[in-house]
Order: sequence, then C-alpha cells, then structure tokens
Amino acid sequence: MDRIRIVGGNQLNGVIPISGAKNAALPLMIASLLTDDTLTLENVPHLADVEQLIRILGNHGVDISVNGRRERQGESYARTIHFTCRNIVDTTAPYELVSKMRASFWVIGPLLAREGKARVSLPGGCAIGTRPVDLFIEGLQALSANIEIDGGYVNATAPEGGLVGARYTFPKVSVGATHVLMMAATLANGTTVLGNAAREPEVVDLANCLNAMGAKITGQGTATITIEGVRSLSGARHRVLPDRIETGTYAMAVAMTGGDVILEDTDMALLDTALEAIRRAGAEITETNSGIRVVRNGAGIKPVDIVTDPFPGFPTDLQAQFMGLMTMAKGTSHITETIFENRFMHVQELARLGAKISLSGQTAKIEGVSRLKGAPVMATDLRASVSLVIAGLAAEGETMVSRVYHLDRGFERLEEKLTRCGAHVERVSD
Ligand code: UD1
Repeated sequence: MDRIRIVGGNQLNGVIPISGAKNAALPLMIASLLTDDTLTLENVPHLADVEQLIRILGNHGVDISVNGRRERQGESYARTIHFTCRNIVDTTAPYELVSKMRASFWVIGPLLAREGKARVSLPGGCAIGTRPVDLFIEGLQALSANIEIDGGYVNATAPEGGLVGARYTFPKVSVGATHVLMMAATLANGTTVLGNAAREPEVVDLANCLNAMGAKITGQGTATITIEGVRSLSGARHRVLPDRIETGTYAMAVAMTGGDVILEDTDMALLDTALEAIRRAGAEITETNSGIRVVRNGAGIKPVDIVTDPFPGFPTDLQAQFMGLMTMAKGTSHITETIFENRFMHVQELARLGAKISLSGQTAKIEGVSRLKGAPVMATDLRASVSLVIAGLAAEGETMVSRVYHLDRGFERLEEKLTRCGAHVERVSD
C-alpha cells in the first residue's frame, strides 16, 4: 500500500494549479443519468472517487469516453469526459459499488425520475459520523415516491405518470439531499420548491448544468430553490468549477510553512470565510489575474477560533487542515465542528507529531507549540489525511503518512503539486 513520505521544514514557493472540484464533478456526472443525450464535462479531476463513480454509472448503462488532455506542462490533468446514457440498463446500485463512496447513493434521484424506480444500497463513505439518509427519503416521499427499506437497500418507486412536484423544507441543511431532490424534481410533474436548501457552490454548479440541459431551476445559491418540472432533458457541455477545498488546503499549507504561492485557476469568492480565517492567522491573500496569491513571511501563525457551518460558513471539509495550521500558532485556538459528529479523528494523529489538542464535545482546544516533530501517522479519512500532510510540511524531520488511498480519493497529484513548490514529499510504494 502506498505511503507519503514528507521531510518538513521547507517553505513553499511557486505555482499550484487547482483542479476541478470533486464535490461538483460527482453530482454532475450523476446528472448524465437524466438524459439520453450526451453530457460533456470539462475540467474533471483525476481522482479515485471519480473513477469509482465511472464504474457505477457504467453499471447503469452510461457510455463514457475520456479525452485526456495535458494542461500547463503536465502539472494538471483536467479531463474532458463525455457521458451518454441512451438507456438505463439497470436501476439497481449494488452494495459492492455504493459502499465504497457515499455520493454514489445519489443515483437514486435520477434513476427514480427517469425510470420510475430505483433500488439503491444504503451508502458507505468516510467514517466521519453516522450520516443517515432520512432527508433523501423524506424529500423523495414529498415528491410522491413510495419508499421501502429492505435488506440494506432503499427501494423507491414513482407513481404512475412520474414524480409529482411539491414543497419540501429540509429540517437540516444537506448538500447531497439538495442535489438529489433538485435532480429528481427536474423531471417531475409540476413545480417543486425546496426550502432550507444547501447553498454550496457545488449545488449552484449542478443547477447551472441542469439548466443548460433544459431544466428550469431558479434560486440556486439561496436557501429556496424552485424547480419547474420539464418533460425531458437534453445534453450539454459544462466546465466543473474549481475545487474550493483543494484551494483552501494549499492556502493553509503556505500559511503553515511560510512562502509565496499562486493558486491558479481558482476563485476567491468560493471560499471567503476560510480565506478570511487564514488571513487572520497571518497570511496575506490577494487576488491575481489567474487566481489567488498566498504569502506568509517572517511573523508566526496567530491563533484563530473557527466554527464549521454550511456555506457560506467555514467548510467542515477544511476543519482538519485548519487544525493542522493552528497546531503551531502562537497561542490557543478553538475549533468547533457542527456538521459531523465524529470528525476529529485527526486529533490523535496530530498529537503524534507533538500537537497539543484536547477535546470537549464538539470543540477542540489547540495550544500552539513552537515545533512539531515528524513521526509515522495514519490517514483516517479524506480531509483528515491532508491535515497530516500540512503538519508534516512544517514538522522537523520525517513524517510518514500511511493509508494514503484516502488522499487519492480527493487530492489530484498532491505530492507533485507540493514538490514543484519546493516541498520534500514523495510517494513510497511497498
Ligand atoms: C457533502 C460533501 C462532503 C461535505 C459535506 C458537508 C460531497 C461528495 N460531499 O457530503 O465533502 O463534508 O457535504 O459540507 O459533496 N444528514 C442527515 N440526514 C440525511 C443527510 C444528511 O442527517 O439524510 C446530515 C449528515 O449526517 C451531516 C449533515 O446532514 O451531519 C450534512 O451532511 P450533507 O450535507 O448531506 O453531506 P454530504 O452531502 O454527504
């Protein structure tokens, strides 16, 4: 199994190209199930989760062709992928496939909307909390679907004549349930109004793509999304938006090590709250023609308290990385996690590097230390694993991160991007 070896102590200087967003690419790919025409997605990142979803979609009858295209002298692998689902050949998403990645559960929306039935295994994914699917079920029932859970599967059927538009207000903000309800409602009879919907940029990206396919969606990016059902959708060409989590992660890495890096092909507006926290920690962040410049010279890292929240709040997917940054702050900071109840698994691994962190309920107290020391550590989930990389970049000596398949799920060519900026990071295959 691959491991990542980091020798800490180097500043980061140079350019890091930001990939297309994993969390936008996945629902966009799933939207291809809604039409018998071709959906072409540009800027699709090359990640284990994307490859896994390609297998899942293939199982439902999606024909997929990839035009690999090297961009920026091999630094980034933005791919254009064509998805064509002339016929849905199977409305079952089996446990063996769905258990590997939670987002694959989302096929339930398009399958139900287009075929009137779906049998989808209850999901797996990162072990960061219980992550139930009650909101998906309640929402689809509001659109008149009949749902039964049997033997670990969700069996959903639409009434004769298809799903029926309705008003549904989520009791809790859910990105995935918003994606699914929005996709299902595009082909429903009548109008659907989703209240307390997720406002994440990836939801907006999906809505924009669905509209390019002929859907009638308004209000995306606000808490109320209105979807007027249409008879059918057509193909479209759509560019996946930049990965705000990857952007924030590298910005925090620079804040941690010091240095001067341009994050290319990304957009400050996607992560205002996180960038503001990094600024308060002592980095300078400015907009450039091609993206964002992050600089930290001289002065140390200042402690900053954060609380995770749905967009536009501080993203839970950057919480672990920010904790990595705070381990070396000059003072004490507090990080409160409000989205997932078990998202502090990185704490004990950061402690192995010498971090001083104590937990009280959903809040971590981080007492900054003046030095971290490299050690063997274990990646426990996707975002936790990259917080160990950030800490390792600043730690003295060697940090060896095992179970890097977690990293490969969400970070494209991480070691290459960091090495080009002067870090000592290499992949070691056993
Ligand atoms: C998505 C992101 C993930 C991010 C998360 C929150 C993708 C592929 N994944 O995950 O990286 O961390 O948003 O920004 O885009 N919940 C329920 N019942 C449900 C559904 C969700 O209680 O039916 C809860 C979850 O357990 C969690 C909260 O709602 O506590 C938010 O989860 P949700 O927004 O649905 O996360 P995902 O869409 O799975």
